[in-house]
Amino acid sequence: MVGYRCFFALGATVVLGGALALPSSHPTLYTRSRDGLNLAAKAAKKLYLGTATNADQWNDTVYYSILKDNAEFGQITAANVMKWFDTEPEPGVFTFEDGDVIADFVKKTGKKLRGHNCVWHNQLPDWVVNGTFTPSELAFVVERHCYELVHHYQGQVYEAHFLTGSVHTEALNDDGTFRSDIFYDTLNSTYIPIALRAARRADPHAKLYINDYNIEGTGAKSTALKNLIKSLKREGVPIDGVGIQCHLTVGEIPTTLQQNMEEFAALGVEVAITELDMRFLNQTANAEGLAQQRADYETVIKACNAVEKCVGVTLWDFTDKYSWIPTTPPDEGYPCPWDENLKKKPAYDGIIQGFH
Ligand code: XIL
Repeated sequence: MVGYRCFFALGATVVLGGALALPSSHPTLYTRSRDGLNLAAKAAKKLYLGTATNADQWNDTVYYSILKDNAEFGQITAANVMKWFDTEPEPGVFTFEDGDVIADFVKKTGKKLRGHNCVWHNQLPDWVVNGTFTPSELAFVVERHCYELVHHYQGQVYEAHFLTGSVHTEALNDDGTFRSDIFYDTLNSTYIPIALRAARRADPHAKLYINDYNIEGTGAKSTALKNLIKSLKREGVPIDGVGIQCHLTVGEIPTTLQQNMEEFAALGVEVAITELDMRFLNQTANAEGLAQQRADYETVIKACNAVEKCVGVTLWDFTDKYSWIPTTPPDEGYPCPWDENLKKKPAYDGIIQGFH
């Protein structure tokens, strides 16, 4: 952070004070302008370019030095440790130690924290999945979990702007009907306003998002989410944003991405790309494939760039080394902008280009 500020202070001096005679051997004053994904996002007036991470990757010193560089990443999402199974493993017993490691890193580095998540059908503790609850019991359980989680992280971050992502994730099936899970089966869709209202009470300044996959392009699922947003707004339920995950496949980027974001924004919510990665599936990760992946990253970033209400982009980790998408040589996986040796791939330049 200090080096990063320093760079800009010096850069400004050179630009404004062109007459200054500077020793040509001075190494820092003559560094060419550096790139950086977050810097590119900020230059495009976005709030951040961020990444998901797991703390057990941080003893990889090369990984860690890229992660903490604010020129690359201005926001951090916990890939796992803020989920229900980690934060409330037993009823009413809250364990935030693992999440706090992420939040402390965020504070120390001056990045933004994005929460992930309050209610989701995956990575739940057994007592929730296997529980038998009456509707009023489960309503209490959902409310307590969302309140305690969001309240714990309230105001703990460097900037007041604490983005609580994914109050609920993945509520809908691909055909637009609600997903059958313990929450829907017990409470119908009422658990959504319960979760959102509890989160708002817990931190009135946190942005509350609904986050989902397969809502990148227009279609049945996106339409259903738009209808859900409309009805939440009509009923006065707090909802600030839609998180579009963007776990995509090289060569298969939905052509309606930008239009779809604009349609969400037109409902009076912001949007964010929350889990971007781009796997190889039907193409090979050779030079040609990597060029296609670069172009596809650029297309996605360009869509966000073109939509004023698209506030930022989060990579679902930045290197093939630690991606949740498995890589099977030679053809499958390789979804991130850094390779398994933590070297930048062409996709990196695609992101920079997309923000121009
Ligand atoms: C993934 C994590 O990255 C993995 O480590 C874990 O095993 C499974 O979950 N959509 C989401 C994320 O909203 O929480 C998921 O994260 C990826 C899919």
